Amino acid sequence: MAEENIDIYIMGKKYSVPKSLTIMKAMEYAGYMLVRGCGCRGGFCGACGTVYRTTDDYKIKVGLACQAMVEDGMYLTQIPFFPANKAVYDIEKMKPTGEQVLKEYPELARCVACNTCTKICPQDIQVMDYVQAALRGDIARVADLSFDCIMCGLCAVRCPAEIVQYNIAVLCRRLYGKYVAKKAKHLQEMVAAVGASKFDDELGELMSADQDKLKQLYKDRDMEPR
Ligand code: SF4
Ligand code: SF4
Ligand code: FES
Repeated sequence: MAEENIDIYIMGKKYSVPKSLTIMKAMEYAGYMLVRGCGCRGGFCGACGTVYRTTDDYKIKVGLACQAMVEDGMYLTQIPFFPANKAVYDIEKMKPTGEQVLKEYPELARCVACNTCTKICPQDIQVMDYVQAALRGDIARVADLSFDCIMCGLCAVRCPAEIVQYNIAVLCRRLYGKYVAKKAKHLQEMVAAVGASKFDDELGELMSADQDKLKQLYKDRDMEPR
């Protein structure tokens, strides 16, 4: 049975595309070659943040082009990349405090708690909550809440206070990893063992293996039970 097609509009031009496609695949089906705004195609890299409207609805909607399905009457347009404020700092000379985060990103104090960032996030992250946690200096909470951020940038596009939430979250996760999180003892032991040449034979075997052997080793690797 032939698949049902629907009409979408890409920069004003109408295309008939199968309804089972994602936005990204529909654009390619329509003949576009995506050389920007396209990365992993799996919902992880955040490169494909897209805005669109649907018929008779004034609201601008958002989604990841590689994940969101096309809808009948969808109007798609490309958004230009947006330069996001990214502080330059030396993590070795920092403290895991709210004052430190504010020093690097003073605009954080302008948050008006409008929750727009949370509503727009395609990862369903409580963005406003992590922004507020950063203001309180609760670095562990920011790291926890923002863990699934893919840095698509959609929250920053809509923020009336011009806060770049995801870069603040990156700073907090770095501070958390360096100063707050407990060190994993087994990891330290393993790093020491590697440093002491305990695994030189295995590493040498891996380095000399061809692609088929590597694939087989990967397939046969020990996995934690799910
Ligand atoms: S927090 Fe912002 S940058 Fe991260 S996934 Fe959500 S919208 Fe994208
Ligand atoms: S969109 Fe900006 S101002 Fe609104 S809650 Fe999020 S960070 Fe705060
Ligand atoms: S292409 Fe990577 S998230 Fe869509």
